[in-house]
Amino acid sequence: GKVLYYDFVVKETPIDMLCETNRTVLTVNGLFPGPEIHAHKGDTIYVNVTNIGPYGVTIHWHGVRQIRYPWSDGPENITQCPIPTNSSFLQKVILTEEEGTLWWHAHSDWTRATVHGPIIILPITNYPYKFDEQHTIVIGEWYARDTKAIIDEALATGGDPDLSVAYTINGQPGDSYPCYNGLMYNIEVVRGKTYLFRIIHSGMNEEMFFGIAKHNLTVVGMDGAYVKPLKTNYLMITPGQTMDVLVTANQAPGRYYMVFSPFVDTNAPSNKNVTRGVFQYNGNYNHSETPVSPELPGFTNKSDAGNFTIQLRSLNSKEHPSTVPTKITRNITITVSVNQQPCPANKTCLGPGDDSMHSASLNNISFSAPSISILQAYYNNINGVFNKTFPDKPPFVFDYTGNVSALGEAAFVSTEVLMIKYNEEVEIRFQGTNFGAAENHPMHLHGYSFYVVGMGDGNFSDSYVSQYNTVDPPYINTVGLPKNGWTAIRFKANNPGVWFMHCHLERHSSWGMDTVLIVGEGPNKDQKMLPPPHHMPPCSGS
Ligand code: C2O
Ligand code: CU
Repeated sequence: GKVLYYDFVVKETPIDMLCETNRTVLTVNGLFPGPEIHAHKGDTIYVNVTNIGPYGVTIHWHGVRQIRYPWSDGPENITQCPIPTNSSFLQKVILTEEEGTLWWHAHSDWTRATVHGPIIILPITNYPYKFDEQHTIVIGEWYARDTKAIIDEALATGGDPDLSVAYTINGQPGDSYPCYNGLMYNIEVVRGKTYLFRIIHSGMNEEMFFGIAKHNLTVVGMDGAYVKPLKTNYLMITPGQTMDVLVTANQAPGRYYMVFSPFVDTNAPSNKNVTRGVFQYNGNYNHSETPVSPELPGFTNKSDAGNFTIQLRSLNSKEHPSTVPTKITRNITITVSVNQQPCPANKTCLGPGDDSMHSASLNNISFSAPSISILQAYYNNINGVFNKTFPDKPPFVFDYTGNVSALGEAAFVSTEVLMIKYNEEVEIRFQGTNFGAAENHPMHLHGYSFYVVGMGDGNFSDSYVSQYNTVDPPYINTVGLPKNGWTAIRFKANNPGVWFMHCHLERHSSWGMDTVLIVGEGPNKDQKMLPPPHHMPPCSGS
Protein backbone atom coordinates (compact mmCIF):
# COMPACT_ATOMS: atom_id res chain seq x y z
CA GLY A 1 0.00 0.00 0.00
CA LYS A 2 0.82 3.69 -0.23
CA VAL A 3 1.65 6.07 2.60
CA LEU A 4 -0.70 9.06 2.90
CA TYR A 5 -0.58 12.19 5.04
CA TYR A 6 -3.41 14.28 6.46
CA ASP A 7 -3.45 17.30 8.75
CA PHE A 8 -6.26 17.61 11.29
CA VAL A 9 -6.61 20.80 13.30
CA VAL A 10 -9.13 20.50 16.14
CA LYS A 11 -10.49 23.96 16.86
CA GLU A 12 -13.54 25.97 17.80
CA THR A 13 -15.47 27.11 14.74
CA PRO A 14 -18.48 29.42 14.40
CA ILE A 15 -21.36 27.73 12.57
CA ASP A 16 -24.77 29.06 11.51
CA MET A 17 -27.41 26.47 12.29
CA LEU A 18 -31.18 26.62 12.55
CA CYS A 19 -32.21 29.88 14.23
CA GLU A 20 -28.72 30.62 15.57
CA THR A 21 -25.77 32.34 13.95
CA ASN A 22 -22.12 31.93 14.90
CA ARG A 23 -22.61 29.08 17.35
CA THR A 24 -19.14 27.91 18.35
CA VAL A 25 -18.53 24.18 18.10
CA LEU A 26 -15.44 22.01 18.06
CA THR A 27 -14.52 20.89 14.52
CA VAL A 28 -11.65 19.45 12.55
CA ASN A 29 -10.31 21.94 10.00
CA GLY A 30 -13.40 24.14 10.47
CA LEU A 31 -15.72 21.58 8.86
CA PHE A 32 -18.95 19.94 10.09
CA PRO A 33 -18.90 17.07 9.29
CA GLY A 34 -15.11 16.91 9.20
CA PRO A 35 -12.76 16.16 6.30
CA GLU A 36 -13.06 12.94 4.32
CA ILE A 37 -10.08 10.60 4.28
CA HIS A 38 -9.57 8.76 0.98
CA ALA A 39 -7.35 5.72 0.80
CA HIS A 40 -6.98 2.38 -0.89
CA LYS A 41 -7.05 -0.99 0.77
CA GLY A 42 -3.74 -1.67 2.53
CA ASP A 43 -2.58 1.95 2.70
CA THR A 44 -1.00 3.49 5.79
CA ILE A 45 -2.26 6.93 6.73
CA TYR A 46 -0.43 9.39 8.96
CA VAL A 47 -2.74 11.96 10.47
CA ASN A 48 -1.09 14.79 12.34
CA VAL A 49 -3.72 15.85 14.86
CA THR A 50 -3.14 19.32 16.29
CA ASN A 51 -5.43 20.47 19.05
CA ILE A 52 -6.00 24.21 19.37
CA GLY A 53 -9.39 23.74 21.05
CA PRO A 54 -10.10 24.66 24.68
CA TYR A 55 -9.65 21.17 26.18
CA GLY A 56 -7.90 17.86 25.53
CA VAL A 57 -9.34 15.51 22.90
CA THR A 58 -8.54 12.21 21.20
CA ILE A 59 -9.37 10.87 17.72
CA HIS A 60 -10.43 7.28 16.96
CA TRP A 61 -10.51 5.49 13.57
CA HIS A 62 -13.77 3.60 13.91
CA GLY A 63 -13.60 0.16 12.27
CA VAL A 64 -9.90 0.29 11.40
CA ARG A 65 -8.39 -2.76 13.07
CA GLN A 66 -4.96 -1.16 13.66
CA ILE A 67 -3.32 -4.57 13.59
CA ARG A 68 -0.78 -4.91 16.44
CA TYR A 69 -0.88 -1.15 16.90
CA PRO A 70 -3.36 0.03 19.55
CA TRP A 71 -1.19 3.13 20.15
CA SER A 72 -3.14 5.25 17.67
CA ASP A 73 -6.59 3.81 18.33
CA GLY A 74 -7.68 6.79 20.35
CA PRO A 75 -10.27 6.14 23.11
CA GLU A 76 -9.48 8.52 25.96
CA ASN A 77 -7.72 6.92 28.92
CA ILE A 78 -8.01 3.51 27.28
CA THR A 79 -5.18 3.69 24.72
CA GLN A 80 -3.94 7.24 25.25
CA CYS A 81 -4.39 10.35 27.32
CA PRO A 82 -6.00 13.36 25.63
CA ILE A 83 -3.99 15.55 23.28
CA PRO A 84 -3.60 18.74 25.34
CA THR A 85 -4.46 22.18 23.98
CA ASN A 86 -1.70 23.56 21.73
CA SER A 87 -0.03 20.26 21.01
CA SER A 88 -0.02 17.55 18.36
CA PHE A 89 -0.12 13.78 18.11
CA LEU A 90 0.97 12.06 14.90
CA GLN A 91 -1.40 9.11 14.53
CA LYS A 92 -0.71 6.13 12.30
CA VAL A 93 -3.78 4.51 10.79
CA ILE A 94 -2.91 1.07 9.43
CA LEU A 95 -5.35 -0.29 6.86
CA THR A 96 -5.20 -4.00 6.13
CA GLU A 97 -8.29 -5.90 4.95
CA GLU A 98 -10.83 -3.05 5.46
CA GLU A 99 -12.58 -2.09 2.21
CA GLY A 100 -15.59 0.19 1.92
CA THR A 101 -16.75 2.90 4.29
CA LEU A 102 -15.58 3.61 7.83
CA TRP A 103 -15.27 6.83 9.80
CA TRP A 104 -13.23 8.69 12.38
CA HIS A 105 -14.47 10.53 15.43
CA ALA A 106 -13.36 12.18 18.64
CA HIS A 107 -13.34 9.71 21.52
CA SER A 108 -13.43 11.96 24.58
CA ASP A 109 -16.58 13.04 26.42
CA TRP A 110 -19.24 13.95 23.87
CA THR A 111 -16.98 15.86 21.51
CA ARG A 112 -17.70 13.39 18.72
CA ALA A 113 -21.04 15.17 18.14
CA THR A 114 -19.23 17.62 15.86
CA VAL A 115 -15.77 16.05 15.54
CA HIS A 116 -16.19 13.25 13.01
CA GLY A 117 -15.79 12.46 9.32
CA PRO A 118 -15.69 9.69 6.69
CA ILE A 119 -12.92 7.23 5.86
CA ILE A 120 -13.41 5.96 2.30
CA ILE A 121 -11.35 2.88 1.45
CA LEU A 122 -11.34 2.06 -2.24
CA PRO A 123 -10.54 -1.38 -3.63
CA ILE A 124 -7.18 -1.88 -5.30
CA THR A 125 -8.66 -3.43 -8.43
CA ASN A 126 -12.44 -3.54 -8.74
CA TYR A 127 -15.69 -3.39 -6.81
CA PRO A 128 -17.88 -6.50 -6.61
CA TYR A 129 -20.78 -4.34 -7.89
CA LYS A 130 -21.43 -1.59 -10.47
CA PHE A 131 -22.37 2.06 -10.09
CA ASP A 132 -21.96 5.39 -11.86
CA GLU A 133 -21.28 7.86 -9.07
CA GLN A 134 -20.57 7.77 -5.37
CA HIS A 135 -21.63 10.12 -2.59
CA THR A 136 -21.04 10.16 1.15
CA ILE A 137 -23.94 10.71 3.54
CA VAL A 138 -23.16 11.44 7.17
CA ILE A 139 -26.16 11.32 9.45
CA GLY A 140 -25.56 13.47 12.53
CA GLU A 141 -27.19 15.28 15.41
CA TRP A 142 -27.10 18.94 16.41
CA TYR A 143 -27.26 20.09 20.02
CA ALA A 144 -28.49 23.40 21.38
CA ARG A 145 -25.38 23.83 23.52
CA ASP A 146 -21.87 22.51 24.08
CA THR A 147 -21.95 18.71 24.23
CA LYS A 148 -19.05 18.43 26.66
CA ALA A 149 -20.95 20.67 29.07
CA ILE A 150 -24.11 18.60 28.54
CA ILE A 151 -22.50 15.32 29.56
CA ASP A 152 -20.30 16.80 32.30
CA GLU A 153 -23.40 18.29 33.95
CA ALA A 154 -25.49 15.14 33.52
CA LEU A 155 -22.77 12.97 35.07
CA ALA A 156 -22.37 15.39 37.98
CA THR A 157 -26.06 15.16 38.90
CA GLY A 158 -26.81 11.65 37.68
CA GLY A 159 -29.64 13.06 35.58
CA ASP A 160 -30.56 12.83 31.91
CA PRO A 161 -28.30 14.55 29.39
CA ASP A 162 -30.02 16.92 26.92
CA LEU A 163 -31.21 15.38 23.69
CA SER A 164 -30.12 16.93 20.41
CA VAL A 165 -32.46 19.44 18.76
CA ALA A 166 -32.07 18.25 15.16
CA TYR A 167 -30.81 15.45 12.99
CA THR A 168 -28.63 16.42 10.06
CA ILE A 169 -27.57 14.98 6.70
CA ASN A 170 -24.02 16.09 5.91
CA GLY A 171 -24.44 18.84 8.49
CA GLN A 172 -27.72 20.07 7.01
CA PRO A 173 -30.97 19.75 8.98
CA GLY A 174 -33.33 20.09 6.02
CA ASP A 175 -36.76 21.58 5.55
CA SER A 176 -38.60 19.89 8.43
CA TYR A 177 -36.95 22.33 10.87
CA PRO A 178 -37.71 26.01 11.37
CA CYS A 179 -35.03 28.44 10.10
CA TYR A 180 -33.24 25.73 8.13
CA ASN A 181 -32.28 28.51 5.72
CA GLY A 182 -31.97 26.31 2.68
CA LEU A 183 -29.55 24.01 4.47
CA MET A 184 -30.79 20.77 2.95
CA TYR A 185 -28.85 17.94 1.35
CA ASN A 186 -29.80 17.77 -2.30
CA ILE A 187 -28.46 15.37 -4.87
CA GLU A 188 -29.20 15.80 -8.56
CA VAL A 189 -29.51 12.48 -10.34
CA VAL A 190 -29.80 11.34 -13.93
CA ARG A 191 -32.48 8.82 -14.85
CA GLY A 192 -30.94 5.39 -15.49
CA LYS A 193 -27.80 5.96 -13.45
CA THR A 194 -26.90 4.05 -10.31
CA TYR A 195 -25.58 5.85 -7.22
CA LEU A 196 -23.45 4.41 -4.45
CA PHE A 197 -24.29 6.06 -1.14
CA ARG A 198 -21.77 5.60 1.64
CA ILE A 199 -23.90 6.13 4.73
CA ILE A 200 -22.31 6.82 8.11
CA HIS A 201 -24.34 7.10 11.31
CA SER A 202 -22.34 9.49 13.44
CA GLY A 203 -25.33 10.34 15.64
CA MET A 204 -25.07 10.12 19.39
CA ASN A 205 -28.11 8.53 20.93
CA GLU A 206 -30.66 7.24 18.46
CA GLU A 207 -30.84 4.53 15.85
CA MET A 208 -32.32 5.53 12.52
CA PHE A 209 -34.47 4.22 9.71
CA PHE A 210 -33.63 5.49 6.22
CA GLY A 211 -35.41 5.44 2.91
CA ILE A 212 -35.86 7.29 -0.40
CA ALA A 213 -39.42 7.72 -1.65
CA LYS A 214 -40.39 5.18 -4.36
CA HIS A 215 -36.80 3.87 -4.73
CA ASN A 216 -35.34 0.54 -3.73
CA LEU A 217 -32.10 0.39 -1.81
CA THR A 218 -29.55 -2.38 -2.33
CA VAL A 219 -27.13 -2.84 0.56
CA VAL A 220 -23.73 -3.99 -0.77
CA GLY A 221 -21.40 -3.25 2.14
CA MET A 222 -21.37 -2.66 5.84
CA ASP A 223 -18.69 -1.54 8.32
CA GLY A 224 -15.89 -1.78 5.78
CA ALA A 225 -16.72 -5.22 4.35
CA TYR A 226 -18.85 -6.38 1.42
CA VAL A 227 -22.22 -8.08 1.84
CA LYS A 228 -24.34 -10.01 -0.62
CA PRO A 229 -26.65 -7.51 -2.31
CA LEU A 230 -29.76 -7.08 -0.14
CA LYS A 231 -32.71 -5.34 -1.75
CA THR A 232 -34.88 -3.42 0.71
CA ASN A 233 -37.07 -0.35 0.93
CA TYR A 234 -35.65 0.83 4.25
CA LEU A 235 -32.43 0.62 6.27
CA MET A 236 -32.04 0.48 10.00
CA ILE A 237 -28.67 1.83 11.02
CA THR A 238 -27.28 2.28 14.53
CA PRO A 239 -24.83 4.92 15.74
CA GLY A 240 -21.38 3.66 14.76
CA GLN A 241 -22.48 1.63 11.76
CA THR A 242 -21.77 2.41 8.12
CA MET A 243 -23.60 1.04 5.07
CA ASP A 244 -22.84 1.12 1.36
CA VAL A 245 -26.06 1.25 -0.60
CA LEU A 246 -26.86 1.32 -4.33
CA VAL A 247 -29.81 3.32 -5.62
CA THR A 248 -30.83 3.37 -9.27
CA ALA A 249 -32.68 6.46 -10.47
CA ASN A 250 -35.42 4.53 -12.25
CA GLN A 251 -38.59 6.45 -11.35
CA ALA A 252 -40.49 9.23 -13.10
CA PRO A 253 -38.35 12.38 -13.15
CA GLY A 254 -39.27 14.42 -10.10
CA ARG A 255 -38.27 15.20 -6.54
CA TYR A 256 -38.16 12.50 -3.88
CA TYR A 257 -37.44 12.96 -0.19
CA MET A 258 -34.65 10.95 1.37
CA VAL A 259 -35.48 10.65 5.06
CA PHE A 260 -33.80 9.55 8.27
CA SER A 261 -36.27 8.97 11.09
CA PRO A 262 -35.45 7.62 14.54
CA PHE A 263 -36.24 4.27 16.08
CA VAL A 264 -37.25 5.38 19.54
CA ASP A 265 -37.02 3.34 22.70
CA THR A 266 -39.37 3.88 25.61
CA ASN A 267 -37.10 6.08 27.68
CA ALA A 268 -35.56 8.00 24.82
CA PRO A 269 -38.56 9.88 23.47
CA SER A 270 -37.92 11.73 20.24
CA ASN A 271 -38.25 15.44 20.72
CA LYS A 272 -37.67 16.40 17.15
CA ASN A 273 -38.55 15.98 13.52
CA VAL A 274 -37.05 13.63 11.01
CA THR A 275 -34.30 14.99 8.77
CA ARG A 276 -34.87 15.20 5.02
CA GLY A 277 -32.80 15.64 1.91
CA VAL A 278 -33.91 15.54 -1.72
CA PHE A 279 -33.12 12.99 -4.43
CA GLN A 280 -33.86 15.15 -7.42
CA TYR A 281 -33.87 14.19 -11.10
CA ASN A 282 -32.49 16.53 -13.70
CA GLY A 283 -34.66 17.30 -16.73
CA ASN A 284 -37.99 18.89 -17.49
CA TYR A 285 -40.68 18.82 -14.81
CA ASN A 286 -42.00 21.21 -12.23
CA HIS A 287 -38.99 21.70 -9.93
CA SER A 288 -41.06 23.48 -7.31
CA GLU A 289 -43.24 20.43 -6.66
CA THR A 290 -43.28 19.13 -3.10
CA PRO A 291 -41.23 15.92 -2.93
CA VAL A 292 -42.89 12.61 -2.13
CA SER A 293 -41.99 11.07 1.27
CA PRO A 294 -40.87 7.46 1.76
CA GLU A 295 -42.86 5.12 3.96
CA LEU A 296 -40.63 4.13 6.84
CA PRO A 297 -41.26 1.88 9.84
CA GLY A 298 -42.88 3.76 12.73
CA PHE A 299 -40.77 5.30 15.51
CA THR A 300 -41.42 2.37 17.86
CA ASN A 301 -41.33 -0.48 15.33
CA LYS A 302 -39.13 -2.87 17.30
CA SER A 303 -39.48 -5.78 14.89
CA ASP A 304 -38.43 -3.82 11.79
CA ALA A 305 -35.53 -2.37 13.78
CA GLY A 306 -34.41 -5.72 15.21
CA ASN A 307 -34.78 -7.83 12.08
CA PHE A 308 -32.71 -5.71 9.75
CA THR A 309 -29.04 -6.62 10.32
CA ILE A 310 -29.60 -10.33 10.58
CA GLN A 311 -30.87 -10.44 6.98
CA LEU A 312 -27.42 -9.38 5.80
CA ARG A 313 -24.93 -11.98 4.57
CA SER A 314 -21.25 -11.41 4.06
CA LEU A 315 -20.17 -11.71 0.43
CA ASN A 316 -18.14 -14.87 1.09
CA SER A 317 -16.72 -14.97 -2.42
CA LYS A 318 -13.37 -16.31 -3.58
CA GLU A 319 -11.79 -12.83 -3.30
CA HIS A 320 -13.64 -12.01 -0.06
CA PRO A 321 -14.03 -15.27 1.87
CA SER A 322 -15.69 -15.52 5.27
CA THR A 323 -13.59 -17.17 7.94
CA VAL A 324 -15.99 -17.74 10.81
CA PRO A 325 -14.35 -19.36 13.85
CA THR A 326 -15.94 -22.75 14.49
CA LYS A 327 -13.71 -24.15 17.26
CA ILE A 328 -14.68 -21.79 20.03
CA THR A 329 -12.15 -21.91 22.87
CA ARG A 330 -13.58 -19.05 24.88
CA ASN A 331 -17.27 -18.56 25.45
CA ILE A 332 -18.33 -15.36 27.16
CA THR A 333 -21.79 -14.15 28.13
CA ILE A 334 -22.26 -10.45 28.83
CA THR A 335 -25.45 -8.88 30.17
CA VAL A 336 -26.05 -5.36 28.92
CA SER A 337 -28.07 -3.24 31.33
CA VAL A 338 -29.17 0.26 32.16
CA ASN A 339 -29.06 0.65 35.94
CA GLN A 340 -29.56 3.14 38.71
CA GLN A 341 -27.00 3.85 41.40
CA PRO A 342 -27.84 5.19 44.85
CA CYS A 343 -26.96 8.85 45.15
CA PRO A 344 -23.66 9.40 46.99
CA ALA A 345 -24.14 11.16 50.34
CA ASN A 346 -22.38 14.37 49.26
CA LYS A 347 -24.54 14.86 46.17
CA THR A 348 -27.99 15.94 45.12
CA CYS A 349 -29.09 13.65 42.33
CA LEU A 350 -31.51 14.33 39.53
CA GLY A 351 -31.57 10.74 38.32
CA PRO A 352 -34.48 8.55 37.27
CA GLY A 353 -35.90 7.79 40.71
CA ASP A 354 -35.78 9.86 43.86
CA ASP A 355 -32.24 10.45 44.89
CA SER A 356 -30.56 8.08 42.46
CA MET A 357 -28.31 8.43 39.45
CA HIS A 358 -28.24 6.87 36.02
CA SER A 359 -25.71 4.16 35.43
CA ALA A 360 -25.21 1.31 32.98
CA SER A 361 -23.23 -1.89 33.03
CA LEU A 362 -21.82 -4.97 31.34
CA ASN A 363 -22.08 -8.10 33.51
CA ASN A 364 -23.28 -5.77 36.24
CA ILE A 365 -19.98 -3.85 36.23
CA SER A 366 -20.26 -0.16 35.53
CA PHE A 367 -16.98 0.79 33.88
CA SER A 368 -15.04 3.67 35.31
CA ALA A 369 -12.21 4.98 33.15
CA PRO A 370 -8.87 5.42 34.93
CA SER A 371 -6.94 8.68 34.90
CA ILE A 372 -4.04 7.27 32.89
CA SER A 373 -4.39 5.06 29.86
CA ILE A 374 -4.94 1.34 30.34
CA LEU A 375 -2.62 0.59 27.41
CA GLN A 376 0.20 2.53 29.02
CA ALA A 377 -0.39 0.85 32.39
CA TYR A 378 -0.47 -2.58 30.73
CA TYR A 379 2.61 -2.02 28.58
CA ASN A 380 4.68 -0.55 31.42
CA ASN A 381 3.38 -2.92 34.12
CA ILE A 382 1.93 -0.12 36.24
CA ASN A 383 -0.21 -1.67 38.96
CA GLY A 384 -3.42 -0.35 40.46
CA VAL A 385 -4.91 1.08 37.27
CA PHE A 386 -7.25 -1.77 36.30
CA ASN A 387 -8.28 -5.26 37.44
CA LYS A 388 -7.98 -8.27 35.15
CA THR A 389 -11.19 -9.72 36.52
CA PHE A 390 -14.02 -8.95 34.14
CA PRO A 391 -16.05 -12.19 34.41
CA ASP A 392 -16.93 -14.55 31.55
CA LYS A 393 -20.44 -14.98 32.93
CA PRO A 394 -23.01 -12.66 34.49
CA PRO A 395 -22.93 -12.64 38.32
CA PHE A 396 -26.41 -14.12 38.53
CA VAL A 397 -28.69 -16.04 36.24
CA PHE A 398 -32.32 -15.07 35.96
CA ASP A 399 -35.04 -14.31 33.44
CA TYR A 400 -33.19 -11.31 32.01
CA THR A 401 -36.03 -10.02 29.90
CA GLY A 402 -38.80 -10.82 32.40
CA ASN A 403 -39.77 -8.86 35.47
CA VAL A 404 -36.54 -7.86 37.21
CA SER A 405 -38.00 -5.37 39.67
CA ALA A 406 -37.18 -7.52 42.70
CA LEU A 407 -33.50 -7.89 41.83
CA GLY A 408 -32.21 -4.42 42.63
CA GLU A 409 -30.51 -2.41 39.98
CA ALA A 410 -27.22 -1.13 41.33
CA ALA A 411 -24.06 -2.19 39.48
CA PHE A 412 -20.48 -2.33 40.79
CA VAL A 413 -18.44 0.66 39.68
CA SER A 414 -14.96 -0.55 38.77
CA THR A 415 -12.27 -0.75 36.06
CA GLU A 416 -12.40 -4.41 35.10
CA VAL A 417 -10.85 -5.68 31.88
CA LEU A 418 -11.43 -8.96 30.05
CA MET A 419 -8.19 -10.87 29.48
CA ILE A 420 -8.04 -12.91 26.27
CA LYS A 421 -5.23 -15.16 25.06
CA TYR A 422 -3.70 -14.70 21.64
CA ASN A 423 -5.51 -16.66 18.92
CA GLU A 424 -8.38 -17.78 21.11
CA GLU A 425 -11.54 -18.35 19.10
CA VAL A 426 -13.94 -16.16 20.99
CA GLU A 427 -17.72 -16.14 21.13
CA ILE A 428 -19.48 -13.36 23.01
CA ARG A 429 -23.20 -13.61 23.69
CA PHE A 430 -24.65 -10.25 24.52
CA GLN A 431 -27.86 -10.45 26.52
CA GLY A 432 -30.11 -7.43 26.89
CA THR A 433 -31.90 -7.13 30.22
CA ASN A 434 -34.90 -5.38 31.71
CA PHE A 435 -32.92 -3.55 34.39
CA GLY A 436 -33.70 0.16 34.31
CA ALA A 437 -35.47 0.06 30.98
CA ALA A 438 -34.91 -2.29 28.10
CA GLU A 439 -33.38 -0.67 25.03
CA ASN A 440 -31.44 -1.59 21.92
CA HIS A 441 -27.70 -1.32 22.38
CA PRO A 442 -25.30 -0.92 19.43
CA MET A 443 -22.32 -2.82 20.82
CA HIS A 444 -18.98 -1.85 19.28
CA LEU A 445 -15.57 -3.53 19.56
CA HIS A 446 -12.29 -1.79 18.74
CA GLY A 447 -9.43 -3.67 17.06
CA TYR A 448 -11.70 -6.23 15.36
CA SER A 449 -14.63 -6.87 13.14
CA PHE A 450 -16.70 -9.84 14.25
CA TYR A 451 -19.15 -12.26 12.70
CA VAL A 452 -22.73 -11.91 13.91
CA VAL A 453 -23.70 -15.59 14.00
CA GLY A 454 -27.06 -15.23 15.73
CA MET A 455 -29.60 -12.78 17.06
CA GLY A 456 -33.05 -13.05 18.56
CA ASP A 457 -35.65 -11.95 21.07
CA GLY A 458 -35.82 -12.89 24.74
CA ASN A 459 -33.27 -14.87 26.73
CA PHE A 460 -30.44 -16.67 24.97
CA SER A 461 -30.70 -20.46 25.04
CA ASP A 462 -27.99 -23.02 24.24
CA SER A 463 -30.39 -24.60 21.77
CA TYR A 464 -29.89 -21.56 19.48
CA VAL A 465 -26.27 -22.52 18.78
CA SER A 466 -27.30 -25.16 16.24
CA GLN A 467 -29.16 -22.45 14.30
CA TYR A 468 -26.18 -20.08 14.02
CA ASN A 469 -25.08 -18.89 10.62
CA THR A 470 -21.42 -19.95 10.48
CA VAL A 471 -21.23 -19.80 6.68
CA ASP A 472 -21.80 -16.18 5.65
CA PRO A 473 -22.82 -14.08 8.67
CA PRO A 474 -22.30 -10.30 8.44
CA TYR A 475 -18.78 -9.19 9.38
CA ILE A 476 -19.17 -5.88 11.18
CA ASN A 477 -17.81 -3.83 14.07
CA THR A 478 -21.04 -2.57 15.66
CA VAL A 479 -24.06 -4.79 16.23
CA GLY A 480 -27.50 -3.64 17.31
CA LEU A 481 -28.31 -5.86 20.28
CA PRO A 482 -32.10 -6.03 20.04
CA LYS A 483 -34.19 -4.64 22.85
CA ASN A 484 -35.10 -7.51 25.18
CA GLY A 485 -33.00 -9.84 23.10
CA TRP A 486 -29.58 -11.38 22.49
CA THR A 487 -26.92 -11.53 19.84
CA ALA A 488 -23.87 -13.79 19.45
CA ILE A 489 -20.62 -12.68 17.82
CA ARG A 490 -17.44 -14.55 16.94
CA PHE A 491 -13.87 -13.52 16.20
CA LYS A 492 -10.37 -14.93 16.34
CA ALA A 493 -8.27 -13.00 18.86
CA ASN A 494 -5.31 -12.45 16.53
CA ASN A 495 -4.84 -8.73 17.13
CA PRO A 496 -2.86 -8.21 20.34
CA GLY A 497 -3.53 -5.02 22.23
CA VAL A 498 -5.90 -3.09 24.44
CA TRP A 499 -9.30 -2.72 22.82
CA PHE A 500 -12.31 -0.80 24.07
CA MET A 501 -15.75 -2.40 23.82
CA HIS A 502 -18.84 -0.32 24.48
CA CYS A 503 -22.36 0.64 23.61
CA HIS A 504 -22.25 3.29 20.86
CA LEU A 505 -25.15 5.22 22.38
CA GLU A 506 -23.16 7.99 24.04
CA ARG A 507 -25.33 8.28 27.11
CA HIS A 508 -25.00 4.57 27.85
CA SER A 509 -21.25 4.60 27.29
CA SER A 510 -20.93 7.62 29.61
CA TRP A 511 -22.93 5.75 32.26
CA GLY A 512 -20.52 2.80 32.21
CA MET A 513 -21.76 0.40 29.49
CA ASP A 514 -18.15 -0.32 28.54
CA THR A 515 -15.26 -2.67 29.11
CA VAL A 516 -11.81 -3.34 27.69
CA LEU A 517 -10.44 -6.47 26.05
CA ILE A 518 -6.74 -7.05 26.54
CA VAL A 519 -5.64 -9.54 23.91
CA GLY A 520 -2.27 -11.09 24.71
CA GLU A 521 0.67 -11.65 22.39
CA GLY A 522 1.72 -14.81 20.57
CA PRO A 523 5.19 -16.38 20.79
CA ASN A 524 6.40 -15.20 17.37
CA LYS A 525 7.74 -11.78 16.60
CA ASP A 526 4.90 -10.97 14.22
CA GLN A 527 2.35 -11.88 16.92
CA LYS A 528 3.43 -9.12 19.27
CA MET A 529 2.33 -5.53 19.61
CA LEU A 530 4.42 -3.05 17.65
CA PRO A 531 6.45 -0.66 19.79
CA PRO A 532 4.86 2.66 20.80
CA PRO A 533 5.55 5.80 18.77
CA HIS A 534 8.25 8.13 20.08
CA HIS A 535 5.69 10.64 21.21
CA MET A 536 2.38 9.90 22.93
CA PRO A 537 0.22 12.58 24.59
CA PRO A 538 1.42 12.85 28.20
CA CYS A 539 -0.57 11.35 31.08
CA SER A 540 -0.51 13.51 34.17
CA GLY A 541 -1.14 10.50 36.39
CA SER A 542 2.18 8.84 35.55
CU1 C2O B 1 -17.00 4.67 17.21
CU2 C2O B 1 -15.29 3.46 20.68
O1 C2O B 1 -16.13 4.08 18.96
CU1 CU C 1 -26.75 1.06 25.08
